[in-house]
Amino acid sequence: MVMTGAGVSSESGIPTFRGPVGLWNNHRPEDLATPEAFENDPSLVWEWYDWRRLLVLDAEPNPAHYAISDLELYYPEFLVVTQNVDGLHRRAGSQKVLELHGSITRARCYSSPDHIEPLQKNQKLKEYPPCCPECGEILRPDVLWFGESYDEEILSECLLFAQDCDLILVVGTSGAVGVPAAIVGTAIQKGAISVEVNPEESSLTQGVDFYINGKAGEFMPKIISELQRSQ
Ligand code: OAD
Repeated sequence: MVMTGAGVSSESGIPTFRGPVGLWNNHRPEDLATPEAFENDPSLVWEWYDWRRLLVLDAEPNPAHYAISDLELYYPEFLVVTQNVDGLHRRAGSQKVLELHGSITRARCYSSPDHIEPLQKNQKLKEYPPCCPECGEILRPDVLWFGESYDEEILSECLLFAQDCDLILVVGTSGAVGVPAAIVGTAIQKGAISVEVNPEESSLTQGVDFYINGKAGEFMPKIISELQRSQ
């Protein structure tokens, strides 16, 4: 099992949230990533998500994403759980991916959540907020905001997998968000060997078996080739 966070995409040029150049350094999450923020100013929230969406569409997966997608070929029971909304794991070829925090490339209707809309590629939205083509209500980004509940189905799939996995690779996450940290904790408690790759120690570092102090793009391909050699 692999748990990834924003750090796995930082070498693709996508900013992380925390740390000296993180997004939460210049923006307050409560102004941009909560249901209240959206109710107060949906245009501002959309403008920010659209800026991030275009960054993501301009970016390419990096060697860490490709290494993780290669793993799937070697292990029939495999899962990537990502906190990222950028879709780069899938673009690198991963198929067994659960996106805990949704996807920035989709919108969903604010009134009818089952109306899901893919957003047009490589183009700024024509209006903020955009409207639902099915019912005319406003759309919201199809991401999880602070204060919202996780999708129960996705969460229980992650937890079930964590309970049973032999190895968990924890890549590029600060461990600051409780639910993903708890998924990692579950795997460790249930006996999985744990390996973290991060150039900075995180709140998860103390609990892992092996800590690799380095960048994901550099070290994931090395770990994967070692695993392949030992197969
Ligand atoms: P953070 O921004 O909290 O942490 C990014 C982590 O990546 C840090 O520990 C960095 O040291 C590490 N990092 C930076 N560059 C790296 C590299 N090249 N290789 C490996 N690691 C690197 O991001 P997350 O832990 O993903 O949630 O944050 C979790 C959630 O908090 C996000 O999904 C988002 C945010 O608020 C929501 O918006 C709901």
